[in-house]
Amino acid sequence: MRIFRTKQALQSYLDELREAKQRVALVPTMGALHEGHLTLVKEAQQIADVVVCSIFVNPTQFNDPGDLERYPRPEENDLQLLQTIHCDIAFMPTVEEMYPETEEPWHLDLGSLEKVWEGEKRPGHFQGVTQIVYKLFSLVEPDVACFGQKDFQQIMVIQRLIELKKLSVVLHICPTVRNEKGLALSSRNMRLSAEGKHKALALYRSLRHIERYFEVRNLNTLRTEALDILHQEGEIDVEYLAICETRSLQEVDQIEPRKKHVALLVAWIEGVRLIDNMLLD
Ligand code: PAJ
Repeated sequence: MRIFRTKQALQSYLDELREAKQRVALVPTMGALHEGHLTLVKEAQQIADVVVCSIFVNPTQFNDPGDLERYPRPEENDLQLLQTIHCDIAFMPTVEEMYPETEEPWHLDLGSLEKVWEGEKRPGHFQGVTQIVYKLFSLVEPDVACFGQKDFQQIMVIQRLIELKKLSVVLHICPTVRNEKGLALSSRNMRLSAEGKHKALALYRSLRHIERYFEVRNLNTLRTEALDILHQEGEIDVEYLAICETRSLQEVDQIEPRKKHVALLVAWIEGVRLIDNMLLD
């Protein structure tokens, strides 16, 4: 595996590959890699000749400075994991490399996506995400970019970035990878105690409950039941739980015919913010 820390070195290597007509896939991450990220890389390997995995804890997408500071950065371990699955390229730039002093102000019109759920709860978050992803897209010029369904709204935001900037990259979405008990893998899980991880299983249980009874129950009742499952566990702070139409992400109180639906959930356990979702139709 080749490891690059500067844009220039990466770019000149990629130029060679492109001349040899290699199809390039990009898997953007913030590191602290787990099987969820590795699955993205493995899927990328199926659809492209060369896979670039970027590891960069992007400061502009953190609206909480404490969260940025606490974000795990196990660099050596990440590189080893990528080696074991034969990833071709790891790109690990510094903050100065990605954000030079002469930085153009960034703003993308994300419309209502920025006013609901993650957009509303984490002001500026999606501006930071699109800013770094656009930088990575411009640098790598990938044919395909792989993102996880776990961050459902993020995928919609990236799709909008692609449309607004008229990019030709194809978005490939990978299903959420969970542990054997259903907990969605996340870099933030590392900050949970064993008890916290156990409590976190209630997130999956509540989403499964919604999935199971989605077609047969009143959605408000179903939402209340799912909240009860979370509250029964104790010491779980639910930030939001909503059953939404997938395109608008507007909350619905009954199933909309011919539309698809998703349950979105964010909850706090032991000071860690956990996000999960489930497609319902
Ligand atoms: P990060 O949280 O590291 O996630 C990187 C990618 O891995 C995202 O596409 C995310 O949805 C996916 N992912 C994380 N956990 C997953 C799981 N359990 N199953 C499947 N996919 C999973 O998302 C980001 O970083 C950043 O916002 C980024 C896009 C890199 C921009 O900085």
